[in-house]
Amino acid sequence: MVYLKGKDILDGAQFTREEIEHIMTVADRFRQDLEDKPGLDLMKGYLLAALFFEPSTRTRLSFETAMHRLGGNVIGFSSAESSSTSKGETLVDTIRTVDRYADIIAMRHPQIGSAKEAAAVANAPVLNGGDGAGQHPTQALLDLYTVRQERGKVDGMTIVLCGDLKNGRTVHAGVEIYKHYHCKLIMVAPEQLKMPSEIVARLRSHGLQVEETANLEEALAKGDVLYMTRIQKERFADPAEYERLKGSYILTREMVERIKPDITIMHPLPRVNEITTDVDSLSNAAYFRQVGNGVFIRMALIASVMGKI
Ligand code: NCD
Repeated sequence: MVYLKGKDILDGAQFTREEIEHIMTVADRFRQDLEDKPGLDLMKGYLLAALFFEPSTRTRLSFETAMHRLGGNVIGFSSAESSSTSKGETLVDTIRTVDRYADIIAMRHPQIGSAKEAAAVANAPVLNGGDGAGQHPTQALLDLYTVRQERGKVDGMTIVLCGDLKNGRTVHAGVEIYKHYHCKLIMVAPEQLKMPSEIVARLRSHGLQVEETANLEEALAKGDVLYMTRIQKERFADPAEYERLKGSYILTREMVERIKPDITIMHPLPRVNEITTDVDSLSNAAYFRQVGNGVFIRMALIASVMGKI
């Protein structure tokens, strides 16, 4: 069965559990394939456009890596300044142009809803690599894949989401994916950066257990997985407010060892100061393995929407 052929990947809420499981299975297969050989030829002759109007390291490079590993090629730009956006071109005109060149589009843009806007005019499938403080579905899928890899399952897990839950698009997409699983979410944020209440209400009405607190230590003690996030500086209108909140939660090795030594520690990265570097050498610090998983998941998404798998 071809699950996602021709579809856009815009929002964590668009998937059924069956589709999510399909992506995980395909990612597993690609992981195994790449153990035997450096690349495949499934996407030979196809072009991915990577349009990054906002800074990125992992999302852009892992999309590019994924396409190359599948045997395809990549075009694109990595800043709005180096594209005609800087001359005043609209997003829609840029997309209509790129649609004439490429078979599939991965994009990141500062505006909420931009990927949806692009998908409305593109014939090529559009993969949302982050639309402002909106959604980041490919990251959410690789996060779920990482929980599954690290813990062997998702059902039954207590997952602590900590940091900027108001502006963080990875957690906005993530909760839409977790709602298909029997897990419990503990949301840890300062009052000003809480997960929007309408999202929490919707998750609860879907049957998901959600607890909210400002106390990280308390949440750590109950968690199987800790998902730390960066305070999203670029989304603050008032720089003084960012300065006040940027040190809200800092995970140290001492805290992990004292409270929950075996908790799986994840982070979408980039990290600023939320996890001290002495945590990195713990065997349960999973964030760089998480980075690697991004390639398999994006390979799975590209191959699926292109109808190759
Ligand atoms: C995240 C993003 O850009 O939303 N990073 C990522 O894609 N790996 C998280 C962040 O920027 O804090």
